[in-house]
Amino acid sequence: METTEKDIQHLSIQQALELLCRRYPGQVAFSTSLGEEDQVLTDIIFRNNLPVKVFTLDTGRLFNETYDLIQITEAKYGKRIEVVFPEAKEVEQLVSQHGINCFYESVELRKKCCAIRKVHPLKRALEGMKIWITGLRAAQSENRHELSLLAWDNGYQLLKYNPLLNWSLQDVEKYLEQNNVPFNPLHRKGFVSIGCAPCTRAIAEGEDIRAGRWWWEDSKKECGLHEQPVNYQI
Ligand code: ADX
Ligand code: SF4
Repeated sequence: METTEKDIQHLSIQQALELLCRRYPGQVAFSTSLGEEDQVLTDIIFRNNLPVKVFTLDTGRLFNETYDLIQITEAKYGKRIEVVFPEAKEVEQLVSQHGINCFYESVELRKKCCAIRKVHPLKRALEGMKIWITGLRAAQSENRHELSLLAWDNGYQLLKYNPLLNWSLQDVEKYLEQNNVPFNPLHRKGFVSIGCAPCTRAIAEGEDIRAGRWWWEDSKKECGLHEQPVNYQI
C-alpha cells in the first residue's frame, strides 16, 4: 500500500515519521544542509530515536560554521550525521578544466559544479530509499509555492516528504529557541539561506530570502537538488 498525503496530514511530524519508518523500514532518509529548518527536523528525528538515515552533502566548499555545527549537533544528540562526498574524479576534472572558482564564470559552469558536488552525491545517497525528507518551506521562494507535503517525485522515483511545508521562518526560529536546538551562528548575521561559502552572502532587511544565493546570477536560484517535477500526486 502506497502512502498518500491524506494518511499523514492530520499527524504531528513525529507521528508521520513514525508511520513512514514502520511502513518503509530502512528506507527513510533525511537530507540536512544544517540550515535552520533542517535543525528542527534533526531534533525531532534524533530526540525520538527515529530510524531515519540522516545525511548531509559535503560539497567541499561549505562554511566553517557549518562544519562546526555538524560536530556540535552530533555531540548534543550522541548520533552521527552521515557525510556524503562528491566523486573525487569528477571534482578534479571540473577544477583542472575550468578552475577552482569556475562557478562565477557562467550559469552553465555553476550548474555543473552543483551537479558534481551536490546532485550526483544526492542521487547516490538516495539509492534504495522510499522516502526522502527535506526541510523545504513553501514561503522560501516562488518556485517552492507549488510543493506538496508528500508527493511522488518522478525524478528520484520516491516519495518526497516536506514536513515544514507550511511553517513560517518565525515558526522555525521559535521551535529552535524553545527546544534549545543548536543552529548556525551565520543566521544571526544576515544569512537566511546557507549553502556553499563562495555562493552565499548575507541579505539586507527586506531582501528576498534567497537573494543571497548565487547573488551574481539572474537565474532561478536553485542548485538542481529540487528541480525534479514533484507534482504527481499518488
Ligand atoms: S538548495 O537547493 O537551495 O541548496 P536549500 O538550501 O534551500 O536548498 O535547502 C532545501 C533543502 O535541500 C534542505 O532542507 C535539505 O533537505 C536539502 N539540502 C540542501 N543542501 C543540502 C546539503 N548540502 N546536504 C543535504 N541536504 C541539503
Ligand atoms: Fe559549487 Fe557553488 Fe553549487 Fe556549491 S553552491 S556546488 S560551490 S556552484
